Amino acid sequence: MLKTKVEKALNNQLLIEGESSQIYLAMASWAETQGLSGTAQFLYKHSDEERIHMLKLVQYINERGGHAVIPALSAPSRDYKTLNNMFATLLKHEIMVSSKINDLVEICLKEKDFTTNNFLQWYVSEQIEEEALARTILDKLKMIGSDKSGLYMFDRDVESITVQSNTGTKA
Ligand code: FEO
Repeated sequence: MLKTKVEKALNNQLLIEGESSQIYLAMASWAETQGLSGTAQFLYKHSDEERIHMLKLVQYINERGGHAVIPALSAPSRDYKTLNNMFATLLKHEIMVSSKINDLVEICLKEKDFTTNNFLQWYVSEQIEEEALARTILDKLKMIGSDKSGLYMFDRDVESITVQSNTGTKA
C-alpha cells in the first residue's frame, strides 16, 4: 500500500509526464508548420514516449493500492521561434523533469518505500538519456548555425541521432 505522501508525489509526476507529452506534441506541430518534417516526426514519437511515461505511473499507483488521478493539463507554448530555441526549451524542460524525479526518489527514501524507489530507477536512467540526447542535438545545431544545407541534413537525420550514455544507446 502506498503512503499518502508517496501517492501524492507520484500523482504529481504523472501530471508532469502528461504535460511533457503535450509540450512535445506542440513542438512537433510547430516544426511541421515550419516544413521541418523530420524534426516533427522525431517529436511526435517523443510525445508518445512521454505518454507512456505517464501511463506507467498511472498503472503503478493503482497496482499499489493508490488512486491515479488523471489531471487537466495546461496548454503548452505554440510558437518556438527557432529550432535552436525549441531544443534549448526542450533541454531546460528535461532538466526540470530530472530534478522532479530526484525529489520523488528522495521522498521514497525518507518514507522507506524501497519498492517505489526501485520502480523509479527506470525514470532516473531515462532522464540521463533524454538530457544527453537534447544536449547532443543542441551541440549539432550550434555547429550548423544558419547554414541552410546543414539544417536540411539535420532535419533529414534527426531521427537517427544517437547518444552513448552509461545506460545504453538510444535513438
Ligand atoms: Fe518523461 Fe522526458 O521525461
